[in-house]
Amino acid sequence: TDLAAFAHGLPKAELHLHLEGTLEPELKFALAARNGIELDETTVEEVRATYDFTDLTSFLAVYYPAMRVLQAAEDFHDLAWAYLQKAAAQGVVHAEMFFDPQAHTGRGVPFDTVITGYRRAVVRAQDELGISAELILCFLRDFSAEYAMATLMEALPYKAWIVGVGLDSDERDNPPTKFAEVFARAKAEGFFLTMHCDIDQVGSIDNIRAVIEQIGVDRIDHGTNIVEDPSLVALAKERGLGFTTCPVSNSFVTAQMKSDEIVSLLNAGLKVTVNSDDPAYFGGYVGDNYVALAEHAGLGAADLVRLAINSFEASWLTASRRADFI
Ligand code: ADE
Ligand code: ZN
Repeated sequence: TDLAAFAHGLPKAELHLHLEGTLEPELKFALAARNGIELDETTVEEVRATYDFTDLTSFLAVYYPAMRVLQAAEDFHDLAWAYLQKAAAQGVVHAEMFFDPQAHTGRGVPFDTVITGYRRAVVRAQDELGISAELILCFLRDFSAEYAMATLMEALPYKAWIVGVGLDSDERDNPPTKFAEVFARAKAEGFFLTMHCDIDQVGSIDNIRAVIEQIGVDRIDHGTNIVEDPSLVALAKERGLGFTTCPVSNSFVTAQMKSDEIVSLLNAGLKVTVNSDDPAYFGGYVGDNYVALAEHAGLGAADLVRLAINSFEASWLTASRRADFI
């Protein structure tokens, strides 16, 4: 449709994207072959058949084991480069991309290998696609705060390649305050801060309150349960906090797109953005997410433009670079 073409062509920033969540089955096979790794599945269809998610936990149980095909810096480059090319084709002119170093260092791949490969793709995207990209280091919240702090220390020599830090993986029993000290140190080091507040978790609203009032994040990933507390919505608006929503991902991990919540926050004047989260697993890149939300919620071109403007306003681009886009 015309609106779909418009959504894909609209220049936008993507702010909620897990690089490890962009591993398409075809690339998984290619990397497995290159690294001499045997996989349980032999066809793309067999791999896709394992993508039978009912919640975040069942997704994560497929997401982490797949990463073992990522071994050399070249593999991390190839993963990020494939994503950046697809993103550029869907109108992305700037991407702030999460990576999960502990999912690699924890199985013996050095931090330097991971970030060197990813960084090479960032530089290449600027040179060959003319788009900018940044890396956001995510800590895995189901591991200890001590391990997160050690990972932050390991990242400090690479500070120039990392724009911010985030928090992902399983939120249950792993509240934001568990990582208060790690995030305070990251802030002192000059990193921007964001944290996942996943959809419909036990204690979602308490966790959202904590990330705003105690952690002092610059953005919230997902976070749409904030609709439950109008005083927090007002505070988020006053602080200009960005919300990185992921409609297609929501449909997988909760069986609902949560479009009413997304649109209500957008109309309340919050810096709501639309993103793809783990597109290889959920089957939609960022333009597809704009289209899915527009179709489900009956949005028009003006709403999509507002979402795209929000994506630059909620980005961590410098003021002068932001001015190139809006
Ligand atoms: N890691 C990768 N994708 C995630 C998601 N949607 N929520 C939490 N952790 C994740
Ligand atoms: Zn996410």
